[in-house]
Amino acid sequence: MAKILVQGGNRLAGKITISGAKNAALPLMAAALLTDQKLTLTNMPGLDDVLTMSNLLRGLGVSVDRDGSQITFDAGNLTSTEAPDELVRIMRASVLVLGPLVAREGKARVSLPGGCAIGARPVDLHLNALEQMGAEISVRDGFVEVLAPSGLTGAFITFPKVSVGATENLLMAAALAKGETVLNNAAQEPEITDLAHCLQAMGAKISGIGTSRLTIEGVPTLSGASHPVVADRIEAGTFAVAAAMTQGDLLLENARADHLTAPIDILRRAGVEVIEQDGSIRVKCDVDRLPAIDFTTEPFPAFPTDLQAQFMAMMTVASGTAVIRETIFENRFMHVPELTRMGASISINDRSAIVRGVDGLTGAPVMATDLRASVAMVLAGLVAEGQTEVGNIYHLDRGYDQVEAKLSAVGAAIRRVEE
Ligand code: EPZ
Repeated sequence: MAKILVQGGNRLAGKITISGAKNAALPLMAAALLTDQKLTLTNMPGLDDVLTMSNLLRGLGVSVDRDGSQITFDAGNLTSTEAPDELVRIMRASVLVLGPLVAREGKARVSLPGGCAIGARPVDLHLNALEQMGAEISVRDGFVEVLAPSGLTGAFITFPKVSVGATENLLMAAALAKGETVLNNAAQEPEITDLAHCLQAMGAKISGIGTSRLTIEGVPTLSGASHPVVADRIEAGTFAVAAAMTQGDLLLENARADHLTAPIDILRRAGVEVIEQDGSIRVKCDVDRLPAIDFTTEPFPAFPTDLQAQFMAMMTVASGTAVIRETIFENRFMHVPELTRMGASISINDRSAIVRGVDGLTGAPVMATDLRASVAMVLAGLVAEGQTEVGNIYHLDRGYDQVEAKLSAVGAAIRRVEE
């Protein structure tokens, strides 16, 4: 099994180019199912999750042709409407083929995504909303079957809870439904805005983009398009923390500050300089020891759950005590025991983690438990005394494009070893 070794103590300085966002690329790939013409996505990240989604689409009869960071999808001749168990188990985002398949083919059969390290992660919000659009839902043998032989009908839908995936599935389904669909209490993450812009380029009629109320006027068919994937705000936020923790100076090329307002607010309150300059973000830190700052994860535009572990790593060596509340997932503190092995002082009380800043961390062998926890271990390793060995790094490869290459290029003592 591969692992990553990090030698702590180096200051990071230089430029990192931010890749296309994983959480935009995956729904955009599913959108290819909505048309019999070609969809070309540019600025695609090189991630294992993109490979998994490509394999899932190929299994449905989609041709997938990659040329560097450009991928062209052709769903002109679909041969299946079933997302197999082995792929859905690897990647929950496979459920995003549900809406497009039902809208285009009138049926879909998707293995129910199991829970994962960060929580149960059901799909009830997706299914209840599709039912309101006239779909018949049945669950058996671990699969959910969704039927709409005469197509979906627009509906006035209010999500009882904000859900990124459910918003994306319904946005895609509504694009080809008969009549108007309104999605109330829709998620507003930038990746949803990116998907909506791509759907508009394909001929979809969508208004309210970027708000919690999306209105979609269904059209009979959608055309192909070419669309650039939006930059990954979570990757950018991760490297911003790396600059802050190492008293560094990083230019994050292509990063969008308007997609990171809550995390940037915390960094600035901690005394970190965050400067927007021509489509990039510069993060510079001259503060020897950052002050502890409380934060709570909530749907966009509030602080994103996908940066919780990374900011916790930063708080482990801050001066004072930070209270971190995780309101999105019920079990997203799996990185706490691993950070504790490195000398962090953290206690958990239900959905809150109390992080008492310590003078320093000590490198240790640690395990990654989910995508964002794994990168938090790398961040902790950047400042720990000695060497940190991060195992289970397949989590990292799912969502970070060449993380050790990007970090070593700006001065980190980091390398990957195959065991
Ligand atoms: C997306 O997951 C992201 N994944 C996650 O990123 C991210 O953490 C999450 O949104 C929240 O921002 C992708 O975009 C591929 P949700 P998703 O539906 O859509 C509950 C990463 O590290 N819920 O917004 O699965 C759910 O259990 C990953 O890149 C229901 O109860 O998240 C959770 O508690 C991790 N019923 C909450 O809502 C449902 O039908 C938010 O989930 C759906 C969700």
